[in-house]
Amino acid sequence: MEIVLSGIRPTGQLHLGNYYGALRNFVRIQDKYECYYFIADLHSLTTHPHPDDFHANVKNILAEYLAAGLDPEKSALYIQSDVPEVSELYVLLNMLAYKGELERTAAFKDKVRHNPENVNAGLLTYPVLMASDILIQRANWVPVGKDQDQHLEMSRVFAKRFNNFYGVEVFPEPHAMDFGGGSLKVPGLDGNGKMGKSEGNGIYLADDEKTITKKVMRAVTDSGPTVPNSPKPVVIENLFTLLKLVSTPDTVEFFDEKWNDCSIRYGDLKKQLAADICKVTLPIRERIIEISQDNDYLAKVVKSGCERARANASKTLEAARKAVGFRKF
Ligand code: TRP
Repeated sequence: MEIVLSGIRPTGQLHLGNYYGALRNFVRIQDKYECYYFIADLHSLTTHPHPDDFHANVKNILAEYLAAGLDPEKSALYIQSDVPEVSELYVLLNMLAYKGELERTAAFKDKVRHNPENVNAGLLTYPVLMASDILIQRANWVPVGKDQDQHLEMSRVFAKRFNNFYGVEVFPEPHAMDFGGGSLKVPGLDGNGKMGKSEGNGIYLADDEKTITKKVMRAVTDSGPTVPNSPKPVVIENLFTLLKLVSTPDTVEFFDEKWNDCSIRYGDLKKQLAADICKVTLPIRERIIEISQDNDYLAKVVKSGCERARANASKTLEAARKAVGFRKF
């Protein structure tokens, strides 16, 4: 079976964009691939999260992953720092990563521009650690967003470079996994593009009904259509895009007709949208709460995830150690 791997940094809660863009697909492919899903806590350290909140953020993502339907019997769900093989491979790969190519990485240049006071070596070698995550499991497929394309390309470069340098075939080349039509871009509620972590534009899987309703009712609209069958401005199109995700085709058609004959009432549209978002997310929210309270279960999940991740990783590491010339006495 081919291997799929994905990591997520434990920063904040998951929103509808995460769910429709990736998470729902992670759940869907669990039977077809050997899946490794992990929480990238080491990567998070580049920005020095407060030690008192760190664990809660990790636990939160884990509970949300499980609540959304990731099955620890099928997929390996683990914490990056529980798998020391990742860190050891990172050391080996660092020896073949050039300062120049790391400095030219778009994400690194961006961080330097925005946080010139915290340009640490971990930030510079972020792509090497990410390559280690991927290569240690010999992943074939990595579902990542556009913003991670360059990092994934660098993983391929490091894999090939290691293989060529040592004349081995330790690492397969990892490729971007495209969910095609299954990966849906979810717009935010402020008319400013994608749903993200920014205040006010996102709906979280853990939001309650009142919060969701309030957020949707406050979504940006315009003064309404005046010419029949006119194209929808972006802010209105966004609401329809959300509606298409969570509502039935009948509902979408109903409001489409109202738009086209200029009789649409945004208040009605938003009420329907809020209700249908709640239908999708409230069951997930209930499970998040339930799972978060069950520490024994969470401990069991990460223990078995770690065991599976390490069992696979240790084989790769052994091959890499042998390749560089480490020998037993
Ligand atoms: N860099 C990724 C992000 O910020 C997170 C990540 C770390 C990752 N290691 C990974 C993603 C390995 C895919 C594979 O989104």
